Amino acid sequence: MLLRVDFNVPIKDGRIQDDTRIREALPTVEDLMGRGARVILMTHLGRPDGQVDEAARTTPLAARLGELLERPVKHVDDCVGPAAEAAVNAMRDGDILMLENVRFHPGETRNDPVFAKQLASLGDLYVNDAFGTAHRAHASTAGIAQFLPAVAGLLMEREIATLGRIMTDPPHPLVAIIGGSKISTKIGVLKSLMQRVDRLCIGGAMACTFLKAKGLEMGRSLVEEDQLDVARSLLSSSGQGGGTLVLPLDAVVAPEARPGVPVETVGVDAVPPDMKVLDVGAMTVERFLQTCDGAAAVVWNGPLGVYEVAPFDRGTDALAQGLAGSDAETIIGGGDLVAALQKQHLAERMSFVSTGGGATLEFLEGRTLPGIAALNDRNDA
Ligand code: ADP
Ligand code: 3PG
Ligand code: MG
Repeated sequence: MLLRVDFNVPIKDGRIQDDTRIREALPTVEDLMGRGARVILMTHLGRPDGQVDEAARTTPLAARLGELLERPVKHVDDCVGPAAEAAVNAMRDGDILMLENVRFHPGETRNDPVFAKQLASLGDLYVNDAFGTAHRAHASTAGIAQFLPAVAGLLMEREIATLGRIMTDPPHPLVAIIGGSKISTKIGVLKSLMQRVDRLCIGGAMACTFLKAKGLEMGRSLVEEDQLDVARSLLSSSGQGGGTLVLPLDAVVAPEARPGVPVETVGVDAVPPDMKVLDVGAMTVERFLQTCDGAAAVVWNGPLGVYEVAPFDRGTDALAQGLAGSDAETIIGGGDLVAALQKQHLAERMSFVSTGGGATLEFLEGRTLPGIAALNDRNDA
């Protein structure tokens, strides 16, 4: 059977920097192996643009999976054609084979039915566990389902169940925290969550756009001038039947996000003209934690500051520490936020960490994800 996973993990100089996505797929791989299936794994890695890219081979992924499973995982240098067919024909029950990067073929991202059919011809059943790629209508995530019985893997099921409950049957009180750099990439999710949550805390650079929309001066901070109207409209809908917006009270400012620069914490109404807001201050963290007090669940996407550069990671870390000790169900998503929390070993103290970046955002926006829609066992099928 063919198992689509999302092993698109960060790799530097041939070394995997974070294997979370591989570990999260283990239950599915182990379950299928335990049933005696011949497990043929497909994944993309990076964006090689339809060509072979030596740095984007799936060989290190197969090796890491083999270490985690404590058994050999074979690798073949193509994902379709004679080499792949020969490798599949040589498999025995319970064997695992990892195909080469599906994006080495242009038919993958074009969702070419001929390429999808070639992939499908390698197996008799398709299991999709690649939640992180479910927002892409590609051959190995969507097209292939036309040629084989298609079902969700255990990770896919867990993501859909956890995030799906926020969308269709949200526990209350529900609090969302949204940070990150730009409103423009998160308008959909802000609007969708405003309808579902009781309170919505805004941090990160996008808080600067909201504060500016309220008439405050943000110095040289990252403000999206073209999103001021969006911010104003969200501010005016605050508390009008949907959620209430909660904005920062104080900010950590500095001339640049560089290590060793002089930093200062100021009220949001006192940002100096030559400074940038680079993190939320301690009062804001306290306010956000009070907002989460007594919540049934907290959904958090996006870091509260420039977490890549110390000390602008403090707000994000302090909020995560506070949430780790709370009784609320904590649901975390977003590539950068998850990376920030992993640095401090705080991710494992959250109730649920989504493996999706863009996929999680699109799911929380209420969009239909092609990789889910293509499955035969989806709820509305
Ligand atoms: P996620 O991947 O968790 O969804 P985003 O991609 O939306 O998050 O945003 C992450 C980026 O936001 C990080 O690179 C971080 O440095 C940046 N960021 C957060 N706060 C600020 C700020 N005050 N000024 C500039 N950049 C910020
Ligand atoms: C991700 O890392 O968000 C997924 O693996 C999808 O990758 P993509 O943005 O290159 O399609
Ligand atoms: Mg990001």
